[in-house]
Amino acid sequence: METNSAIYPGSYDPLTNGHIDIIQRGMKIFPRIIVAVLKNPTKSYLFGLEERVEILKSVFGQNPRIEIDCFGGLLVDYLKAKECNTIVRGLRAISDFDIEFQMALMNRKIEPRIETIFFVPSIQYSFLSSKLVKEIYQLGGEVKSLVPDIVDRKLKEKFR
Ligand code: PNS
Repeated sequence: METNSAIYPGSYDPLTNGHIDIIQRGMKIFPRIIVAVLKNPTKSYLFGLEERVEILKSVFGQNPRIEIDCFGGLLVDYLKAKECNTIVRGLRAISDFDIEFQMALMNRKIEPRIETIFFVPSIQYSFLSSKLVKEIYQLGGEVKSLVPDIVDRKLKEKFR
């Protein structure tokens, strides 16, 4: 297994500055980060898979240490295919802990060689989530300082 890379999986519907903060923290530890966008046909997203990938590429596409990819099925199978044994996740608050703890232990149960590493975001992003961002824009508000410009533009277009 390759130890230089870590995989940061998520829905990224849409990418927020909180995700970007976690990626930047991950890059202090890992030479390469693979940002893996979940493709789940049973879940409905505001942004389609291609759009979520395009947003990430527009923000990180120039960085040779970051790969943007997508995956379906089990996360551990994707890690094996990428020959990677580290998952990166962000922990914003105690409320994240329960589900993240379950996922980390379940992933380890399925594949004991896999480790999950958690990064704590900047305090200004500790209340930020893609879900709240979508809700605010949908209701006519905006939170320009919490999302990259491309996401701000696309959210305004979607809810215009
Ligand atoms: O951004 P999210 O929605 O919090 O990310 C959740 C994600 C993608 C990490 C999680 O849903 C996942 O790993 N899905 C892949 C399917 C899988 O492996 N499920 C078992 C997890 S224990």
